Amino acid sequence: MGIETHQCDVELSNIAISDAHGEDSPYFAGWKAYDENPYDELTNPSGVIQMGLAENQVSFDMLEKYLESQREKGITVSGFRENALFQDYHGLQSFRTAMASFMEEIRGGRAKFDPRRIVLTAGATAANELLTFILANPGDALLVPTPYYPGFDRDLRWRTGVKIVPIHCDSSNNFQITPQALEAAYEEARSMNTKVRAVLITNPSNPLGAAIQREVLEHLLDFVSRKNIHLVSDEIYSGSVFSSSEFVSVAEILESRGYKNAERVHVVYSLSKDLGLPGFRVGTIYSYNDKVVTTARRMSSFTLISSQTQQMLASILSDKKFTKNYIKTNRDRLRKRYEMIIEGLRSSGIECLKGNAGLFCWMDLSPMLQKPTKQAELELWNSIVHEVKLNISPGSSCHCSEPGWFRVCFANMSEQTLEVALKRIRSFMDQREKPSSQRI
Ligand SMILES: Cc1ncc(COP(=O)(O)O)c(C=O)c1O
Repeated sequence: MGIETHQCDVELSNIAISDAHGEDSPYFAGWKAYDENPYDELTNPSGVIQMGLAENQVSFDMLEKYLESQREKGITVSGFRENALFQDYHGLQSFRTAMASFMEEIRGGRAKFDPRRIVLTAGATAANELLTFILANPGDALLVPTPYYPGFDRDLRWRTGVKIVPIHCDSSNNFQITPQALEAAYEEARSMNTKVRAVLITNPSNPLGAAIQREVLEHLLDFVSRKNIHLVSDEIYSGSVFSSSEFVSVAEILESRGYKNAERVHVVYSLSKDLGLPGFRVGTIYSYNDKVVTTARRMSSFTLISSQTQQMLASILSDKKFTKNYIKTNRDRLRKRYEMIIEGLRSSGIECLKGNAGLFCWMDLSPMLQKPTKQAELELWNSIVHEVKLNISPGSSCHCSEPGWFRVCFANMSEQTLEVALKRIRSFMDQREKPSSQRI
């Protein structure tokens, strides 16, 4: 910090001093290792490669080209005054309409979204927290399948005081949610006298990179109706499924059921992953519950998107020809990257969970652990970050109950950098296979 001051023991709030922010995790420690020594092909070729960040840079060129062509045609987003003065938590009608139609397009037109039900938030982070505030009281629980996105420890728990009770999934059935695991998590919460308010899923899953199967979604919908609780479906990666027909949104199932019990279902979405725009902070809550929509809209006052951003994105997303082409090309490029990394890892003797989506793969290094423990996983992770200089995320930071799994992101770098990363992994594996006397 630039200005050093005398730090005395003046008290802060319980939230401020709580460690429920979840940042004391190897997930964030890996980012620090990258920040301190970032890889650069020319200036720092031995630096740390960032493979812990689920960012999508594979289709930036399309957005840049589109904006450039608009400028050349003299089409610019207008109105300094309009943007400077507009301050309404409903957001711009044009943007909500464009967002609803983009969400339909991603689902291959198999689900409909009404712009009046769209609540705008500053990213999915804010959307998930806001929904938690609305659905649960401090001390209540959300059931979340493991492994899950490490940021949920912060987003769902820290300021809300809500607990996460894990639904344990494992590799025996490719980490799919089973009815038994769901029931066990519910009973675990009840045995702690904790009220369960909702199940929160990510579809397709981060970190597994796989879409949730229709039967599982059907079962989840029946489960939440039976228990009289909510279902939140974070569909932030819906545009990253390699083929739209492999993705089933909860919205699609509700439509096929004539919206029966829909008032307990809420979809979260954001442009951070599909358009690769986390810096623009654009997210939404789509709720089928009128009271949730009204309350979320009021609460979104704390986390609005600037009018200028809405206006610019409305102009891009309402161009159907562009969005159609973008969604298809982006999917094709992600699949190509996925195949490149899976092949590269396989040739080094490493297998991954079979995925069909996402900006990452779920890599199995369990055969390399000295013992099947979290401690051994973290030791291996430590070598990969500090010796191999790759920041990947250990499964334990995603609350995976089986040691040895790692999330590896592949869409936040160039193909050349990915090749360097794969080369480093190969030589690490070769070294490991040699008897210790021959290692350098
Ligand atoms: C499952 C999931 N939800 C939410 C977020 C946060 O996204 P945003 O940048 O829109 O806040 C992420 C980001 O990695 C994520 O993976």
